[in-house]
Amino acid sequence: MRVCVAIDGPAAAGKSTVAKRVATILGYTYIDTGAMYRAFTLYCIEKGINCEDEKACVAVIPEVSIELKPGNLVFLNGKDVSFDIRTPIVNANVSYIASYKDIRLALVELQRKMAEKHSVIMDGRDIGTYVLPKAEVKIYQIASAETRAIRRYKENQEKGIACTLDEIREDVKKRDYIDSHRAFAPLKPAEDAIPLDTSDMSIEEVVNAIIDIINKKIKEIGK
Ligand code: CDP
Repeated sequence: MRVCVAIDGPAAAGKSTVAKRVATILGYTYIDTGAMYRAFTLYCIEKGINCEDEKACVAVIPEVSIELKPGNLVFLNGKDVSFDIRTPIVNANVSYIASYKDIRLALVELQRKMAEKHSVIMDGRDIGTYVLPKAEVKIYQIASAETRAIRRYKENQEKGIACTLDEIREDVKKRDYIDSHRAFAPLKPAEDAIPLDTSDMSIEEVVNAIIDIINKKIKEIGK
C-alpha cells in the first residue's frame, strides 16, 4: 500500500512545516523539492555563476549532486547545506534556476525516483501537475500574501536568518511572479487538487485537515 501526496502552492504558504508533521504522523517520507532547487542555486552562487545566465547554469548540471537525508538534511556534493540554502541570496536567485527546463528535468528525475518505493508527501510548485500527476492526494495550499510574509519572517527569526519583513514581502512577491509565469511546469493548481486556504488556520488545524483529506481518499480508493 503506497500513497503519494502532492502539496503545491506559493512561497511561504507553510507547505513544508505541515508536510513534515503529516509525514511524521503517518510514517511517510517527506520530500522537500524546493530544497533541491535551492541547493542547485547555492552551487551556482558559490561558483560565481550569474543565476540569470541559463546557459552557464545548465552547463554545471553534471557537477551537481544533491541528496535529501533523514532529518530533513540537504547535502550538496557531500556537504550539509541545510542552513545555507535558506539565506536571502539563495531566495533572490532560486526562481531563475527553477525556470530552466534542463535543470528541472534533472531534479524531477531524482524526485520521481525518491517517490518510487515509499509512501511520500512531496511539496513544491509542480508536484500535482507535473512531477507526480497520478498522486492519490493533491492539495493546493495557499494563504494571503501578508500572512505568508509574516510566517516566513518569524521562521527566519527562529532560525537566526537576518532579514526585514519588507524584504520578505518583496522576495515572496517576486518568486511567486517568476514561478507562476515560467514556461515549463509553472506554479498552478492541478485540475484535481483540493484548495486549502490556511490564512486563518493554525499549523495543527492544517495538519489535521490534510490528514483527514488523506484518510478520506484512502477509504475512497479502498487502499
Ligand atoms: O519554502 P518556500 O515556499 O519559500 O520555497 P521552496 O519550496 O523552498 O522553493 C524555493 C523555490 O524553488 C521556489 O520559489 C521555486 O522557484 C522553486 N521550486 C520549483 O520551481 N518547483 C518546485 N517543485 C519546488 C520549488
